[in-house]
Amino acid sequence: METEIRHLELNGYVGFDSLPYNYVTRAKRKGFVLNVLCVGESGIGKKTLMDSLFKTTLETDEDVYYSNHTVFKSNAYVIKEQNISISLNLCRTVNYGDDMNRKDSLKAITDHVDRKFELYFQQELNIRQKPFDDFRIHVCLYFVCPTGVSLKPLDVMCMKMLAGKLNLVPVIAKADTMSMHELGKFKENILKELKRNNVQIYYGPLDEPPVEKLNAELNSRAPFAVVGSTDFVIVDGEQRRARKYPWGIIEVENEEHCDLPKLREMLIQVNLEDLIEKTHHVHYEMYRKTRLERMGLTDSDVSDGLIALYKMLNDKCNKQTAKLAVEESEIVRKMEARMRFILKELDKEERDMRDKFREMEEDYLQQKRAIKEAEDRLNEEIVEFRRMVGGMKKAGSSHNLLSSSSHNLLFSIGKRK
Ligand code: GTP
Ligand code: MG
Repeated sequence: METEIRHLELNGYVGFDSLPYNYVTRAKRKGFVLNVLCVGESGIGKKTLMDSLFKTTLETDEDVYYSNHTVFKSNAYVIKEQNISISLNLCRTVNYGDDMNRKDSLKAITDHVDRKFELYFQQELNIRQKPFDDFRIHVCLYFVCPTGVSLKPLDVMCMKMLAGKLNLVPVIAKADTMSMHELGKFKENILKELKRNNVQIYYGPLDEPPVEKLNAELNSRAPFAVVGSTDFVIVDGEQRRARKYPWGIIEVENEEHCDLPKLREMLIQVNLEDLIEKTHHVHYEMYRKTRLERMGLTDSDVSDGLIALYKMLNDKCNKQTAKLAVEESEIVRKMEARMRFILKELDKEERDMRDKFREMEEDYLQQKRAIKEAEDRLNEEIVEFRRMVGGMKKAGSSHNLLSSSSHNLLFSIGKRK
């Protein structure tokens, strides 16, 4: 049920009119963090554009060209303007698009963006670590090659993937290489191609009164056609950042020559806060949600902050332990059943062997008895034979008779054996 909000008059001074002042003082003291990623092929003018955009010389180390894999080069700077400091983290691709397999370039970039989100996510999980370091990329400048035709397939694929992860601002690099007419056509083609592929690039908000008109104008310049230079030329007695050609001078800060001043206005003067907020509330939120889902959690699990998250992780841990205990007892039960089965089998085998042994023993005894009986019978016959021989000797019977009867007796013994 919704509570009715009552509007009250104050009877005296309370002091919350100083809140905006406090907010500004705090913001001044803390400064801002801006993380920029520049994606574009080698030599397209990333470094020169950053120098021109921030009106300084951003020192960098030597680039690595020996590998043909997309890598990233990061440099951190602190720049100050009238007591307001910005921690600027600039990161640019090296060897982008040089991979044998173009998909490797894309994967390297998504992994890089996700790694930055992950660092922030890990800080959120770690209750003791405060305040947070923000490594998340607030804006990505995608450098489009000034072909004058349209986007290349790699540009479309990469921008499509990036647009879902961060604030994507495409820029037409080295715009001085195209005539005004070519540039207008090229911008049109790029926007059509982006629309056809459903790539949502960053536009300044049109629903915030102080900046809506400004943004309407700035947004109409997209994609920004930029020119960068590290050289300075004297024009009307004034030193200006420019590119000098035999036929004339292109001034980086001249809005009639290129969109660089408008790009700076859009990114820093008008929409810096919006870029940071969108990074946090839209892009990081998306990453966080997916990440939590991968951990088996939902957003409502963590809605009450870290304590709730820890409590819920603890619950999950307890549930997991209980589940493991059930699984363990099931394994023990199965193993015991298997042991019982094996013991039963062994028991049966032992009984079978005993029966077999008993049978063999009986066989043996029977044979032994049969041999004994045969031996007894033989002994009786020998005794009978001797008795007969003795009787014959006494009766003086003939030698032939004796020899034939003894032959018969010996024959019958031999047969029995
Ligand atoms: P890698 O360091 O190789 O990735 O290149 P990069 O993209 O950082 O380009 P870099 O700024 O080093 O510029 C490469 C060359 O392009 C230099 O000779 C610059 O002077 C030139 N260049 C940069 N910006 C522009 C531009 O707007 N127009 C023209 N015509 N040349 C430019
Ligand atoms: Mg360079």
